[in-house]
Amino acid sequence: MATLAAAPKPASLPIHQTQLLIDGQWVPAKSGKTFDTINPATEEVIAQVAEGDAADVEAAVRAARRAFDEGPWPRMNARDRGRIMYRLADLIEAEIDELAALEALDNGKPVSDARAGDIPLALDTLRYYAGWADKIHGQTIPINGNYFCYTRREPVGVAGQIIPWNFPILMTAWKWGPALAAGCTIVMKPAEQTPLTCLRLARLAQKAGVPDGVINVVPGFGPTAGAAIVKHPGIDKVAFTGSGETAQIIMRQAADGLKRLTFELGGKSPNIVFADADLDAAAVGAHVGIYLNQGQCCCAGSRLFVEDAIHEKFVERVVEMSRKRKVGDPFDPATEQGPQVDRAQFDKIMGYIESGKREGATCATGGKRVGDRGFFIEPTVFTNVKDEMAIAREEIFGPVLSVLKFSDMDELIRRANATTFGLAAAVWTRDVARAHEVAKRLRAGTVWVNCYDVFDAAAPFGGFKQSGFGRELGERGLDPYLETKTVTVSLS
Ligand code: NAI
Ligand code: MG
Repeated sequence: MATLAAAPKPASLPIHQTQLLIDGQWVPAKSGKTFDTINPATEEVIAQVAEGDAADVEAAVRAARRAFDEGPWPRMNARDRGRIMYRLADLIEAEIDELAALEALDNGKPVSDARAGDIPLALDTLRYYAGWADKIHGQTIPINGNYFCYTRREPVGVAGQIIPWNFPILMTAWKWGPALAAGCTIVMKPAEQTPLTCLRLARLAQKAGVPDGVINVVPGFGPTAGAAIVKHPGIDKVAFTGSGETAQIIMRQAADGLKRLTFELGGKSPNIVFADADLDAAAVGAHVGIYLNQGQCCCAGSRLFVEDAIHEKFVERVVEMSRKRKVGDPFDPATEQGPQVDRAQFDKIMGYIESGKREGATCATGGKRVGDRGFFIEPTVFTNVKDEMAIAREEIFGPVLSVLKFSDMDELIRRANATTFGLAAAVWTRDVARAHEVAKRLRAGTVWVNCYDVFDAAAPFGGFKQSGFGRELGERGLDPYLETKTVTVSLS
């Protein structure tokens, strides 16, 4: 069924940056150490990247601190900050094909996805926040007495930003956009699996005119470089996207410095199909909802709730579409699904597939590795899933769908909300009143109605419950990067 071509690194693709960016200089790690970044389609090494640790983070924080406390970035005309951000977006756009290839090489996602999805969304985010740079203003407040009272919205300071490997370019833009617009400076750690495109973006930021020390990038591992960012007293705020387990560690470690925190974590999002829905559209929504980005999406629609009247027929369609999904070489334009990002994720997902079988769910399609090289997994659908099974409760972060049957609205809402997560949800129905009722009753940060994975830089995104706190994107996405200062002037 699935075909698997070798996915070699395109011979002509330059890697460019593999060092740390600190204070405008590209430097090796102080320890001299490097780590391998792997092509997940072939398991071959792409490049050695400088491995930052606490000593490098120290230098990066010092640079970011100086750039914030004394440098031009927070002090320049806000409109000029915006213009530099627009220029960065233009430079990224000019290299879109090369960047898409580098993203596919390092992450394994189809190059066509990176080209048509990740990078356009990243550009949108940078341009959206570039537009905010000169529109961040306070209020005048009519307090009692003879006073003039106003607020100023000021940058929070040095932001430590730690991102995962599933959308390396897009997560970089989600983090840099609001921070730069607000006038913050940055120490960023990309994921150890996918450092290459973030480093390339940092080079383009230099070319765009972002002053030295404003963006510092320290690739490395979580417990070393990541933890050093979280603990450093020179960091004012930490923005993290990744697993709940790591967020708990970060929250404990950030407690000493009372650092501001925003977290964008995992999910087990319900995708709900009522019998009256446009079933063609809903089937596509079920498919895309789970399989986009090899299932490595925090908002993956991994619990498909189907109303009992249409359950059998609808599941047949979903299974049929899964069988036809083209898994293979990320550089083949026809490929819809590439490999999982690394061995650890591959093993975790295969473990969940085994657990689904063991707990008595029916593996209706998929369930196996594809080929014997690279971390490819068949699109997998489980039916006869019970709410208490691990595959219905835990984040699998792979191409594995759990189908659940429902018959009644109250029962549905209770079951859909019976999760520690609350990132996203979707409902498919032609009944407008029902759509709004479900949207209101679901405990999730995003609810899609008759669509899935619709993202826009202007629309806030983030989690209820253990899916995180704070919002990214939209006006709300600026809040974590701003302090509000109240100034009261006596007029008597
Ligand atoms: P992770 O949360 O451990 O890694 C994400 C980032 O945090 C990476 O840059 C990593 O180096 C860093 N990190 C790890 N430990 C750290 C520490 N002690 N201090 C500071 N930074 C640290 O996620 P991982 O291990 O890559 O994936 C595990 C699971 O997490 C996945 O299977 C998936 O379920 C979930 N996940 C969710 C994501 C999301 O978008 N919400 C993204 C990636 C993973
Ligand atoms: Mg981890």
